[in-house]
Amino acid sequence: MLQLSFDEARSLKEQYGTPLMVFSRREIMEKLSILNEYLPGVGLYYAVKANAHPEVLEVIKQCTDKFDVCSPHEIMTVKDIGVEGDNMIHTNPIKKPEDIRFAVDQGVKWFVFDNEYELEKFKPYGKDVNLMLRLSFPNTDCVVNLSYKFGVYADEAMELAKKATDMGLRVRGLCFHVGSQNLNPFKYKEAIAECRRVFNHLLLEGICLDLLDIGGGFPVEYVDSIMPLRNFFTPIRKALDSYFPSTTVIAEPGRFIVGDAANLILTVVGKSKRNNVWWYYVDDGLYGSFSGRVYDHGKYLLLTDKEGPREQCIIAGPTCDSIDVIYHTSVMPELDIGDTLLALSMGAYTSCSASHFNGCLPAKTIVID
Ligand SMILES: Cc1ncc(COP(=O)(O)O)c(C=O)c1O
Repeated sequence: MLQLSFDEARSLKEQYGTPLMVFSRREIMEKLSILNEYLPGVGLYYAVKANAHPEVLEVIKQCTDKFDVCSPHEIMTVKDIGVEGDNMIHTNPIKKPEDIRFAVDQGVKWFVFDNEYELEKFKPYGKDVNLMLRLSFPNTDCVVNLSYKFGVYADEAMELAKKATDMGLRVRGLCFHVGSQNLNPFKYKEAIAECRRVFNHLLLEGICLDLLDIGGGFPVEYVDSIMPLRNFFTPIRKALDSYFPSTTVIAEPGRFIVGDAANLILTVVGKSKRNNVWWYYVDDGLYGSFSGRVYDHGKYLLLTDKEGPREQCIIAGPTCDSIDVIYHTSVMPELDIGDTLLALSMGAYTSCSASHFNGCLPAKTIVID
């Protein structure tokens, strides 16, 4: 997990200004090698949605040249770093017909579906594309539930796979996402076992699947600690070994690779005592990198190296909107204008959802060693 010292943060601030999103190449590489160690043989497709900064993608490409994309723009972002379409999987279950055409023209061959209306869109391509059917596994142990909007249960999946086959389409695999920042590895085990059941049933129907995609969801440390990674990944690996010993298995991790590989450096740009409570205004907020507070339910550690008695305070972003409050109940020593703050684990689902609201530009991103 990257944690810059305040000396490093201040020196980077002097060089680049703030807000500044700082990624560590070493941390990203380390996370990828952990995945390779704990999930040996599992193909890693980085979920570009987590952070699509070209320099971040370049680092990831040094370890895996496979990417999970969801839109024409993501395809082009990945192509721009020299990756061809046949190293991408398109995992958005709902697509415009013209976006499928675009992806196919760029060489993408793998797509996800979870309903019969989506199948109609693949008719023109017949067996030229490979389909993965998305299953739903609702999960109360994750922070972001990804089975609300997409995915079908096993019985419906079997019907859909048969329908696709009858339409002359090629269903090659199953995929699922047990939810992002998932804290319960046994949810994967449950999903993997259920997928085995669907694989077996479809085989009896003459449909032979040959790929399992276990999605993303692997957690990183934010405010609360997470279980040791070996303990987390072991049940997943064991489930794969016992249920899918000879099937190609892939994953689409996003957060795990970039989430705790970045720190955001901020500056206090204003302060005010209102109703006897300190308000500190900083130069990035909910409309920027802290958009993850809204969309990703993120809680990020915010650090100062200031000393002194700590008291409750409010940390607000730079825009004119009252919603732009990062923390209503933070605890800090008294801060001054110009002070540097550091937010940890800011790499995933933060700058990718930053806007230009109020003319406040998204934080600059740099990658250091
Ligand atoms: C289809 C799909 N794949 C992969 C991911 C990446 O998940 P995570 O960042 O939790 O690893 C997501 C996240 O939204 C997703 O929707």
